[in-house]
Amino acid sequence: MMNPLPPASDAAPPARAPRDAVTGSLEHPTEDAARVALLDTAGAMAGLGLNHGSAGNVSLRWHRGGSDGLLVTPSALPYERCTVDDLVWMPIVPRAGGAADPVPDGHRRPSSEWRFHHDLYAVRPEVQAIVHAHAPHCTALACLPAVQQAGIPAFHYMVAAAGGRDVRCAPYATFGTQALSDHVLAALEGRRACLLAHHGMIAVGASLEAALALAVELEWLARTYGLALGLGEPACLPADEMDRVLAKFADYRP
Ligand code: 13P
Repeated sequence: MMNPLPPASDAAPPARAPRDAVTGSLEHPTEDAARVALLDTAGAMAGLGLNHGSAGNVSLRWHRGGSDGLLVTPSALPYERCTVDDLVWMPIVPRAGGAADPVPDGHRRPSSEWRFHHDLYAVRPEVQAIVHAHAPHCTALACLPAVQQAGIPAFHYMVAAAGGRDVRCAPYATFGTQALSDHVLAALEGRRACLLAHHGMIAVGASLEAALALAVELEWLARTYGLALGLGEPACLPADEMDRVLAKFADYRP
């Protein structure tokens, strides 16, 4: 279950840790709670049709003491066999100019994709969670040369959910490499989701729940765009209409 709520009660709610506490946040007051939420999110991907086996990876920004860092799923371990103790913490460190890689803390190896998780948190302060999956419809589209070049165009207004007039596709690079991380950062500049050529997709968000919901939305867009392509040449919304949708999305919340 995602983010379990406390049992209903008439009593005043307990005081919660302030968001900027040295460790913890309003959403995940302790690292244990953060680990449970991260594992729940990773485990939910298969049931949502986003992933299978040990493919994909999920992370959550997590400060420890004075150090900015992240919790990430371990490498090559199917999520159903993964426990909270298998998750790996690593610090976010400056990596320009050949600086040493961050030293992970955990008894497992961090996801082989720790580089793009790390590098996104380093340059995108608003990003709190990242979901990477080999979602089948996203992955199938990301194998088409036209999509690799132009991404998913504005065939539907919900394309704006990824933050722009289209959904970009990062060029192919070998998994786990710095080249792939560099491509991901460029494809996600000013955006919240992208495809990865011959690989899959990434969604980021202000919470695990938001990143997972966006991943589901992108997989729906990819599936629907694939259906439209099978029927003919989809028409696309003009740029000024997508700009109107993007402006409305800035204010779209319950
Ligand atoms: P990890 O098991 O190392 O996270 O790798 C899975 C994956 O999807 C690589 O892109």
